[in-house]
Amino acid sequence: MHFQKSIRMKKHNFSAGPCILPQEVLKKASNAVLNFNNLDLSLIEISHRSADFVAVMNKATDLVLELLELKDKGYSALFLQGGASLEFLMVPYNLMKKNGKAAYLDTGAWSSKAIKEAQSIGEIEVVASSKDKNYNYIPKDFTISSDVDYFHCTSNNTIYGTQIKEFPQTDGLLVCDMSSDIFSRKLDFSKFDLIYAGAQKNMGPAGTTLVVVKDEILGKSGRKIPSILDYQIHSSKDSMYNTPPVFAVYVSMLTLEWLKEKGGIEAIEKLNNAKAELLYNEIDNNPLFEGAAAREDRSTMNVTFLLTDDTKKDAFDKMCKEAGINGLNGHRSVGGYRASIYNAMPIESVQVLVDLMRKL
Ligand SMILES: Cc1ncc(COP(=O)(O)O)c(C=O)c1O
Repeated sequence: MHFQKSIRMKKHNFSAGPCILPQEVLKKASNAVLNFNNLDLSLIEISHRSADFVAVMNKATDLVLELLELKDKGYSALFLQGGASLEFLMVPYNLMKKNGKAAYLDTGAWSSKAIKEAQSIGEIEVVASSKDKNYNYIPKDFTISSDVDYFHCTSNNTIYGTQIKEFPQTDGLLVCDMSSDIFSRKLDFSKFDLIYAGAQKNMGPAGTTLVVVKDEILGKSGRKIPSILDYQIHSSKDSMYNTPPVFAVYVSMLTLEWLKEKGGIEAIEKLNNAKAELLYNEIDNNPLFEGAAAREDRSTMNVTFLLTDDTKKDAFDKMCKEAGINGLNGHRSVGGYRASIYNAMPIESVQVLVDLMRKL
């Protein structure tokens, strides 16, 4: 591999998260850390209340609503902290009525954690689970009681490589953890009452969590909510109730700008489908590999696969290492390999992987 002086040659980064971000975004972010907006100050040493940073926050929230086609539809976009994991708790705190209940679909480790947190707040009905097959599929035959306050699901199961293709109808509110596929495919986002996502897949660095919430659903739980967990408070303070994670919000803004320049979600979805198809085709046609997830539920973001002949493992791992492939190991609960091919992953990197699979 040849390295040009001072230009870093990037590896093919298949990491599940934190993960690949667009190179242009990383360059702009680096510059802003040294000198932001020609202020002769770093982005991370100015006040979050300064006009320069307030403009960043406003732009980031605007871009979220614009890209999701939720502008002027009664939604707020919030940049919070505590990871998607804190949303596991904030969602029931804010949306489950006193003596109410909520329904959850269990499609993996993250759904299970969301269920566990919600159980500490109130009554939870688990409508279906794919735990019986180590979460390698999305359950489809289930009913959601009409008296639940909300139904919660995980759109993309990062560990297992499954993705919900059709979301169920529910009489209550629809809440979704979209941590690992937000901004990757077109959906009617107005069907959702609350969406949350940790930034560190398709949006930016770890450190901020995006929450997109329909304003009219807030303030109705009848509970006393601690201020830091109260969406209404965060919303009324434009995500500045306390000091926001300024760097993570800024890099998220840059990534959303990048996505808009690329043509938005519609354009990136085409590219994501092409990358996924290229890789799944190889998995299906190469006798040395098999997919880990049920075909109809395959994720376009996290492609999980196994070797059919374990004696080839050392050779394949060596080839990957030599080709500069990073982050391909499967999660310990599935084994094998997981290629995370988020928005910023170029199809050329997927082709490098596919060529190695053929060579093996
Ligand atoms: C689908 C999903 N939900 C939730 C989480 C937890 O996110 P965080 O680590 O930001 O709390 C992850 C992390 O990978 C995830 O993939």
